[in-house]
Amino acid sequence: MANKTFYITTPIYYPSGNPHIGHCYTTSACDAIARYKRMQGFDVMFSTGTDEHGMKIEENAKKAGLDPQVYVDEIAAKFKKLWEYMNISYNRFIRTTNKAHKSAVQKIFKTIYDKGYIYKGEYSGKYCVPDESFWTQSQLKDGKCPECGRDVIDAKEEAYFMKMQPFAEKIEKLLTETDYLQPQARVNEMVNNFIKPGLEDLCVSRTTFKWGIPVPFDEEHVVYVWLDALSNYITLLGYENDEHDDMRYWAADLHMTAKDIVRFHSIIWIAILSALDLPLPNKLYSHGYINLGGSKMGKSTGNVVDPFILGERYGVDALRYQILRDMPFSGDMDYSNELMLNRINTDLANDLGNLVSRTVAMVEKYFDSTLPEEKLQNNEQDSGLITLATGLKAKVDSLIDEPQLGLALTEIFKVISRANKYIDETAPWILAKDEADKPRLACVLYNLLEAIRISSVLLSAFMPATMPKVWEQIGFCADREYLFNAYKNAGLWGVLPQDVTVKRGEIIFPRFDVVKETAYLNTLIK
Ligand code: ME8
Repeated sequence: MANKTFYITTPIYYPSGNPHIGHCYTTSACDAIARYKRMQGFDVMFSTGTDEHGMKIEENAKKAGLDPQVYVDEIAAKFKKLWEYMNISYNRFIRTTNKAHKSAVQKIFKTIYDKGYIYKGEYSGKYCVPDESFWTQSQLKDGKCPECGRDVIDAKEEAYFMKMQPFAEKIEKLLTETDYLQPQARVNEMVNNFIKPGLEDLCVSRTTFKWGIPVPFDEEHVVYVWLDALSNYITLLGYENDEHDDMRYWAADLHMTAKDIVRFHSIIWIAILSALDLPLPNKLYSHGYINLGGSKMGKSTGNVVDPFILGERYGVDALRYQILRDMPFSGDMDYSNELMLNRINTDLANDLGNLVSRTVAMVEKYFDSTLPEEKLQNNEQDSGLITLATGLKAKVDSLIDEPQLGLALTEIFKVISRANKYIDETAPWILAKDEADKPRLACVLYNLLEAIRISSVLLSAFMPATMPKVWEQIGFCADREYLFNAYKNAGLWGVLPQDVTVKRGEIIFPRFDVVKETAYLNTLIK
């Protein structure tokens, strides 16, 4: 029987500037979930890409003296390079300038038009150029764009509109009667600010710029970016095109975005899918922002942290870990160099790194690297660690599904801390003094290796480059590509061979001098 599918998406990012750690957050979060689901045996489709049309891109290309296609080619390549560098295991990278996507969007536009949901009218309103969004007077905040706080301009033009009212009830039901939109706090915002005042029809074409997909039956118009952009989630599977034949993955199990584009994914996307008579996605998780100096890190404001700088100096896995660990479920995270360095030192170097190196060093020192088959049975002193470690998988499973990645990591590190405490409680260096205690010592060290095995298998979805190095050290043979068995056994105790052989290796996470490193980073990242 074919495995159950799991379809997870990042937003498709605007190639209007270099990617930063805000983009890394969403993409690493999706990567961790995708990897976890693959371990669970799901047939995963994990997509990302770039959203390449629109006025802003056209303007940026002009400023750079480049043809828009050349301009987006360059920046899309930077996103791809970053995802490769960050070990992102996406299955598909969609670019909206791709031929199959463009022709599919034209068909989607025509289908919705033929069904009577799209009509021609005139638009006059307030327009935010950087966000490519029209706003009504009442939606503005102090006369500025409610999403980014920048100036809006008066804009008027002939345009096609998509009716929203026919879908209002269905959208409201989805938001209020299911847990589609997470965190739930965002539901009120959508209902009170957009649905209750009456959904306005959506402008779906523009005539003031050319860099877009032509409306098939009226070539003066190009398709307005959100209809083009949101459709990526189905065109990349092969909807209305022959490039792929993967609609079996639809409906998406999880769309992940930040809160900036929650309206588009919780209202407009639902209307588009309903107009096309397609099933609705299962969940939208809209996380908070990574802020820098109190405001949202963003390409257009330029207050960005370059992931390559952090990755080169501290390792990609440390960067992935810190952002996933410190972003709260429904709030924002303030990035600071100190916070990142302290997190790396405390959790990765001290707690995890020390646990692995101490345990492996003790097996090497006291048993010449190979534990004896014969050891004492576990006793009461061991039950706390064993219960916590064998119960971990079930907890992480449900936190991944929520998805509460920071809490999932917290749970895993509880086991790691418990194992460190177990070393203090059992004092292996004292047991080692007396030959008669060797069978107990072997039992204690075996338990430590088992706790490391369980934690590191579950952590491998978050830190995929480092955990295989841990496995080499603790003598755990896991098929790195197919972690299905390693995951299946993560709820069991006694999986490593009784006569396991360890192999001392490099320090997995070096400790940093926070004061010195902060001073260094402050010269690069303010
Ligand atoms: O909105 N903190 O593209 P975009 C956390 N093309 N996440 C952040 C972030 C920050 N400071 N900055 C960016 C678009 N992000 C559209 C999407 S989807 C059909 C079309 C992440 O380049 C976060 O995921 O502005 C946010 O939603 C997304 O980048 C916005 O990317």
